[in-house]
Formats: sequence, structure tokens, C-alpha cells
Amino acid sequence: MSADSDEDETNGLDVTACERCPDLCDSRNRIVNGTGPEDAAVVFVGEGPGEQEDREGEPFVGRSGSVLDDALRDAGLARRDVRITNCVRCRPPENRDPHTDELDNCREYLEAEIRGIDPEVVVSLGKVPSQHLLGRDVAVTKEAGEIEEVRFAGAAHRVLVCVHPAATLYDASQQETFRRTIATAAEFGGAADAGGEGGSGQSRLDGF
Ligand code: URA
Repeated sequence: MSADSDEDETNGLDVTACERCPDLCDSRNRIVNGTGPEDAAVVFVGEGPGEQEDREGEPFVGRSGSVLDDALRDAGLARRDVRITNCVRCRPPENRDPHTDELDNCREYLEAEIRGIDPEVVVSLGKVPSQHLLGRDVAVTKEAGEIEEVRFAGAAHRVLVCVHPAATLYDASQQETFRRTIATAAEFGGAADAGGEGGSGQSRLDGF
């Protein structure tokens, strides 16, 4: 743990005073920590806060958040049932992608958060979190819905690749892929009516 960690920040849940990334510290209004239960079965990981998240201090509260909320509800889960967090907790200026050093600086918090929660599945929302968690190039639209077991945060975790909710706003053809993947996540989350199209969904989880 680095020198600027305090007791609150070591569990990755409540980062209050980080100054590791000069550009992000200069432009941020708020540090945006994850929300949701500390024992959630499903953890969603986005890229980083956008403008509205930076203003409100909560992840996925803008248009992408509405898309995610709707898909969760249709899959039998509510936002309050799941953990939602990001690869970086401060908004990159002009919504640019986070730089590698920024992802690395924030990784300690993300890993601590996931280690503490120990979820059934980690859902990577879009290319940046998918590549960050899987440690390789990811063709998100092709690989969406696939689950890969990877070691990070001191243990093996299932990562479910998902297109970013914003992708469905720009390309309606991504909606079905997105919703199908959220339905898979909901099965891990124990949603009563998860599994889609009338199936119990159990068969899709048998291999895990
Ligand atoms: N997009 C993200 O990746 N994260 C957010 O919190 C909001 C939008």
C-alpha cells in the first residue's frame, strides 16, 4: 500500500483524498467511489466517471446509467442489488480515455474493492475495463457475453465481457447483446427471473 493511503482508502471503498494523477486531480470535482452492497454477487466496472458522475459523485448516473438501470430491472435486478464502480475514480478531462498510468494508479483501489467484495462475477463494461481486467486486447462486440477466469486482486475471478451501455445509444444493434449479457450477469446475481426467454439459465452457469 502506498504512502498516501489512509485507513479508509485501503479497502478501496471510500477513497477520499487521492492525488496520484495530476491531470485528473486538476480537473475533477469529485472522487467517484463505487456504490452498492459490500457483499454484492455482481460487480460492474466501467471506464471512469463522466461529467454528470463527476458532479454528483456517483457512478453511472447519466444516460449510460439509465440504460444500465433499465437492463438490470428487465433482468430482475435493481441498482441497489449490485456494486457499480469504475477503473478510475476521477473524470478524465473532456471524457478522454484514462491513460495507462492513471489506470495503474487507480488499480490498487479497484483490486481492494473487488478483493473485499469477492463477487460471483465481475462485469466489464466496454473496452477499457475489459482490457484492463483481462490484461489483453479485447474485441468487445465479438466477445460480449463471454466469461473468462482471470487472477487479480489475489484470487481467481470470473470476468464477463459486456459492451458499454453508451454503445447501445449510438448503435441500436448493440442493445440485444447488451441486454443478453446483463441477463447472464443477473443469473450470477441470483435474480429470480434471470435466464431470459423462459429458461432457468442454470445450464449457462453449469461450467462455472
Ligand atoms: N461511463 C463510465 O464508464 N462510467 C461511469 O461512471 C459513467 C459513464
